[in-house]
Amino acid sequence: MALRNIREAGESVLEKKCKPVKEITPKITELISDMFETMYDAGGVGLAAPQVGILRRLFVIDCDGEHPYVFINPEILETSGEQTGEEGCLSVPGKCGIVTRPNYVKVKAFDGEMKEFVLEAEELLARAILHENDHLDGILYTSHVEGPLQDVSYEEETEEE
Ligand code: NI
Repeated sequence: MALRNIREAGESVLEKKCKPVKEITPKITELISDMFETMYDAGGVGLAAPQVGILRRLFVIDCDGEHPYVFINPEILETSGEQTGEEGCLSVPGKCGIVTRPNYVKVKAFDGEMKEFVLEAEELLARAILHENDHLDGILYTSHVEGPLQDVSYEEETEEE
């Protein structure tokens, strides 16, 4: 396992549409474990492949440090409700902003062994899935932000989920 370099807003790799993962190769397995390591090291709850420079439809999420999820070729099946809250992104360091998203999401994806699963999520997990899924289409949360981006103080950052 190794830490990967997190790409930052302004780099074109973050603005491109990603291609599906065709099969699990040793390279993809290594990418997934590197992405978890990189995400945990940076104190994030989600990380998408383009954020480490790989244009594939793959992201990882762990909202509470105990439930790591791998999403490969995800497909949003359903959304409902609404939640408004603060959001940040490892590719936009030191900043946060208010984003309104659906409160509920039903998503179909493949896991790290290419087994299909369907997950229903609410609140933070739903927000994370939609945020990461946007990355696969080259969309950053900053394009959804209501009002100005704010600076995150270090203290606030450590309190973020
Ligand atoms: Ni992000």
